[in-house]
Amino acid sequence: METEHASLLAALRLQSEWGADEALDDTPPDRGGAAVPAPAPVRLTRPAPSLVVPAAANPASATRAANAGSLDALRAAIQGFDTPLRETATNLVFADGTPSARLMLIGEAPGADEDRQGKPFVGLSGQLLDRMLASIGLSRTENVYITNILPWRPPGNRTPSDAEIALFLPFIRRHIALHRPRHILLLGGTATKALLGGKEGITRVRGRWRDITVEDLAPIPTIATWHPAYLLRTPSAKREAWTDLLTLREALAEAGEGPLPKI
Ligand code: URA
Repeated sequence: METEHASLLAALRLQSEWGADEALDDTPPDRGGAAVPAPAPVRLTRPAPSLVVPAAANPASATRAANAGSLDALRAAIQGFDTPLRETATNLVFADGTPSARLMLIGEAPGADEDRQGKPFVGLSGQLLDRMLASIGLSRTENVYITNILPWRPPGNRTPSDAEIALFLPFIRRHIALHRPRHILLLGGTATKALLGGKEGITRVRGRWRDITVEDLAPIPTIATWHPAYLLRTPSAKREAWTDLLTLREALAEAGEGPLPKI
């Protein structure tokens, strides 16, 4: 009961931090009738069906990625990799955040702001992401490392094609192997499909722990949630994103990766 109370309070605080200024629900509550049902319980345990990363790597990039022995070398390898996306983009968007962070976030691809600044998640969705992270005691200046599946902005911000994802898959997998995160948070459907594979979309996969296996690293617990850009368009999904963040926070606390504030 106390946990439920704390979780409701935290959700309320988050809604206000995320800019919710009206108390609307998805369905009108029956205030005179039965009590409003409690939200679905937060999943604090970790069902972890092991899922091997699909190896649909493109050989053109696979050798180049495998030869990169450090993050700096990987950045240089990507910068030097000849692809049409590089021709239309302004800046390489490699990563941002704390190099020693044990939590790695992976988004889809840079947008216009990221392309200009050469950093991931600096536009509107990045600002929302920072507020989401702050609500569970995380920040890129302290304990988060962020990158994307694609390091170059697709022209016109279009969704990356399957061929582009396959081309850059070896680079992101090498990026994971070199960074060696203890946990991964996937942001949105593209990152989820690229790294977890499978037939199920983000709607079904989000909020559940899976293991990603990369090179010879131990399986890395990975959870997916809605992309912040989707949350900007669909505020009603913030409730689910909040549940996912609580699940992540719980795992980080269990792993002793604090300090995380009491919520
Ligand atoms: N969306 C992403 O997926 N990544 C970014 O860096 C910016 C927006």
